[in-house]
Amino acid sequence: MISAATSPLRFDLRCSECGHAAEPAAAACARCGELLEFRLSPGTRIDVDSWHALLERRRGSTSHLDRSGVWRFRELLPQVDAAHVVTLLEGDVPLYEARGGAQYTGAKCVRYLHLGMNPTASFKDAGMTVAISHARSRGARVAVCASTGNTSASMAAYAARAGIIAVVLVPAEGISESKLAQTLDYGARVIAIRGDFDAALSVVRSLDSSRFTLVNSINPLRIEGQKTAALVLLEASHWRVPDWVILPGGNLGNSSALGKGFREARALGITTKIPRIAVVQAEGAAPLVRSFRTGEALRPVVASTTATAIKIGAPASWRKSLREVRESGGTVLAVSDAEIADARAVIGAEGIGCEPASAASLAGLRRLVAEGTVKPDEDVVLVLTGHLLKDTAYAASYHASKARFANAVLHAQNADEARARLQSLESAS
Ligand code: F0G
Repeated sequence: MISAATSPLRFDLRCSECGHAAEPAAAACARCGELLEFRLSPGTRIDVDSWHALLERRRGSTSHLDRSGVWRFRELLPQVDAAHVVTLLEGDVPLYEARGGAQYTGAKCVRYLHLGMNPTASFKDAGMTVAISHARSRGARVAVCASTGNTSASMAAYAARAGIIAVVLVPAEGISESKLAQTLDYGARVIAIRGDFDAALSVVRSLDSSRFTLVNSINPLRIEGQKTAALVLLEASHWRVPDWVILPGGNLGNSSALGKGFREARALGITTKIPRIAVVQAEGAAPLVRSFRTGEALRPVVASTTATAIKIGAPASWRKSLREVRESGGTVLAVSDAEIADARAVIGAEGIGCEPASAASLAGLRRLVAEGTVKPDEDVVLVLTGHLLKDTAYAASYHASKARFANAVLHAQNADEARARLQSLESAS
């Protein structure tokens, strides 16, 4: 079946495991309880040339729908009436050359897709604009999520724009102060639970879905929005597919989403291949690594890592994520907190920066090059999921430490000492 470039494609909401058809507002499969997904009807193709022309026209438009890096691709998303769309012009993020990252890892061609340059400074916005727009179109009153801080900030912002009440459940300890403050500022009600993210997620999953709209990434609309990051990346690369896309894994929604985006681009005839996907977890929160190696079902762990965004021991989307990794010929690995900390500083020193969890991607690439999985001349894109300012306390404590790339504050007691410092810095440069 060929669809005209400008007519919306057909997606069926189905169980991601057993394929059973689901009702539009269902939270899980009525038959087996597994996560739902939007499936493109098999054999769907688009007229790629006219689609490119459409994207080109939208680039010159001033309409918010055309300017958003998510809604620009609206024919490839589940349909919602334009009047209900809640957008903050998310999605169109930069793809930066990463010379420092290349030097640090030994790979020659490395780029950063910086999803932290989204309106609330994390990748969540691309999914949230779709989830909240659909929630509004269905007349939802209350949106809810469990969060390590970024989902909550994003949900709070979009819900505020939509006039929907936002309630979040966060772990009482270990989430970044900046993310919490951001969430409160956008007006969400915050419940801090004594327990971790996994405990918080199981509470929100137990709620009555007719009263609470759950917007964690188990909501398949989040995945649809986040898959557009694959299109943004491909478009910025002139539709050339990189060899590898490497990203951090927590609850495993984002790797599921990117994998789906690349697969659909290939299925629709936009590209002819897909990149290999590497998911990088923190060593203390790496249950997917074991499943990838053994082929066994995921065994939850009690998570422990200083990269608090990915401190998750029972990731909900592990099946979807693993399927994308395997389909792409990719891999799953874990890196230590110390490797994440140094990699984060390397990204910062390039004038780009990111939050700790994001830097797992660079730390992961370093390992993959060292072990020979990624060849030095392969084309690699590292996904940076959150902005540096999401966790300034972490950055400050790194630079005050004895870590490898620490950049300590220099102190001067008076003007003469300050001048002497300046002069010695100048002559050392
Ligand atoms: N990077 C950052 C900065 C994150 O905030 C998260 C998840 C991830 C990576 C992992 O993505 O869960 O799709 O595998 N943050 C969630 C939150 C859990 O609540 O903000 P994932």
